Amino acid sequence: MKGDNRIVVGVTGASGTVLAFRLLESLKNFERHLIISDGAKRVMAAETSLTVEDFSRLAEHVYEDSDLAAPVSSGSFRFRSFVIIPCSNTTLAKMTTGMADTLITRVAAVSMKERRRMVIVPREMPLSSIYIENMLKLSLNGVIVAPAMPGYYTKPETAGDMVNFVVSRVLDLMGIDNDMSGRWKDY
Ligand SMILES: Cc1cc2nc3c(=O)[nH]c(=O)nc-3n(C[C@H](O)[C@H](O)[C@H](O)COP(=O)(O)O)c2cc1C
Repeated sequence: MKGDNRIVVGVTGASGTVLAFRLLESLKNFERHLIISDGAKRVMAAETSLTVEDFSRLAEHVYEDSDLAAPVSSGSFRFRSFVIIPCSNTTLAKMTTGMADTLITRVAAVSMKERRRMVIVPREMPLSSIYIENMLKLSLNGVIVAPAMPGYYTKPETAGDMVNFVVSRVLDLMGIDNDMSGRWKDY
């Protein structure tokens, strides 16, 4: 089906910008559609030396989060999957209500109504009951909730190993074959 090669990536203002960068690098065989929220731009500047331009080089199409008329905002735009990585609790909360006042939350609302594959990667610790309830609501709507929680059984030695673990599992959930990180009893 047309769109099978398209991946939409939303980057929001939770810590873990580097997760999005690694994911985009690993999707080079796909047509990548990228949206970076203003919150993500603030976090990116605070925790990495990466720039929006660095991210933009890893996508075939880049949209402003305010561009509610972008092609990806429509249910008629077909794509393979939508991933929000990392996913802030602000974006999480908006999505539970159907609020769609940014391009990322609009694509989320469309993905849910069209029953598209959608994965979110929240990052927060600890979690309040509000955050947990919000994740439950999305999960009940078919969204795959994959928090940025690396496993330790692969014996990670660097932060990069832990990033690769999370991104590897996100790729698995998107149905994309990868050997980015070890698997249990597979190394
Ligand atoms: C340095 C920094 C780190 C942050 N880390 C987190 C985080 O880990 N998780 C989270 O939910 N919000 C975090 N925030 C707060 C969000 O960026 C903020 O709620 C923002 O409104 C999110 O907007 P967005 O969802 O449109 O990107 C952080 C903010 C800053 C400045």
